[in-house]
Amino acid sequence: MKPAPLIERILQAVPRFSSSRILVLGDLMLDHYLMGDVERISPEGPVPVVKVRSEGHTLGGAGNVARNLAALGARPSLVSVCGDDDPGKVLLQLVDREGIASVVLRDPTRPTTIKTRIIAQNQQVARVDRESSEPVGEVVRGGLARAVADLLPGHDAVVVSDYAKGVVSGPLVRELVALAATLDPRPIVLVDPKVPNRDFYQGVDLLTPNAKEAGEMAGMRLLGRTDIIRAGVAIFKRSRCRSLLITLGAEGIALFDGPGLVRHIPTVARKVFDVTGAGDTVIAALAAGLTSGLDLLEACVLANSCAGIVVGQVGGASVTPRELCQVLADLPETVVDVWLRAGAA
Ligand SMILES: Nc1ncnc2c1ncn2[C@@H]1O[C@H](COP(=O)(O)OP(=O)(O)OP(=O)(O)O)[C@@H](O)[C@H]1O
Ligand SMILES: [Mg+2]
Repeated sequence: MKPAPLIERILQAVPRFSSSRILVLGDLMLDHYLMGDVERISPEGPVPVVKVRSEGHTLGGAGNVARNLAALGARPSLVSVCGDDDPGKVLLQLVDREGIASVVLRDPTRPTTIKTRIIAQNQQVARVDRESSEPVGEVVRGGLARAVADLLPGHDAVVVSDYAKGVVSGPLVRELVALAATLDPRPIVLVDPKVPNRDFYQGVDLLTPNAKEAGEMAGMRLLGRTDIIRAGVAIFKRSRCRSLLITLGAEGIALFDGPGLVRHIPTVARKVFDVTGAGDTVIAALAAGLTSGLDLLEACVLANSCAGIVVGQVGGASVTPRELCQVLADLPETVVDVWLRAGAA
């Protein structure tokens, strides 16, 4: 059966991902996994004793966005900060191994963000976080701004992957948006926001909060479609962004082209194993799609399909063009529901 025209356009864009140059700016993290078995309860306290069988590291945060872009066949560059410590070394090796061009500043005054997940019998037993959420100092901020200024002219888009760990600041985003506006063609600026930094994103092209973040950014609880629309409109007022996409977990995505046009795309996931990192996949796919000639709705259907694939895999997964094309070819017609069209009767 021939795919629907919308899917056909996405399929045609996939080979063009390889010419998308995307700058990823944000908080870099090291995901650390300790996998083992529990055979007994500790005599020292009411906790399981995990016998470690294997250990692994993957790129997290902004690094996971870059990794997702590389997996899709796009060309990511990464600008970030890590500590001058052993986890920082592991991070830099991983960035290199993934073939991601990078400027990662090593700041001796802060630890590398590392999140250790202890997993026994395929279940997470505990997560141990080591990090600083302090904003980076003036010298490092200057270094980040210089790296962005040097690299931006060669890029089609910027993804700001903000985990509120100190890399992203109001002045840095302001400089980025102002610099992008001087370039022709102008790189688009996409931001995965965090609530405490909600006033940093003035004038960006696209914000991608999840439902919880959108509710907190708008200062309300989101119980249904009407609340989602109201929160979205409040976010537009506050951040003066051009477009907005609220990810709704199992409910898919609400896409606001602007405050007056809101559409809903349902999820395509058939099985769900691990939803961590789905937001990173969404913004990576959006950037790849938008810089390969797709419009916002097409890029959003693409992002939703990619997220549907990664949630069906275990542990910080990513999607390849091949997997994507298979899923797209089998996809039933996407039912895009119009939630709000200003001016419509
Ligand atoms: N339980 C689920 N079932 C089906 N699809 C899901 C589920 N959870 C997430 N997704 C897919 O992943 C997308 C992003 O998910 P979500 O809204 O949870 O993002 P997020 O909270 O930012 O994720 P992250 O943990 O990476 O920050 C959704 O829009 C949807 O396409
Ligand atoms: Mg998220």
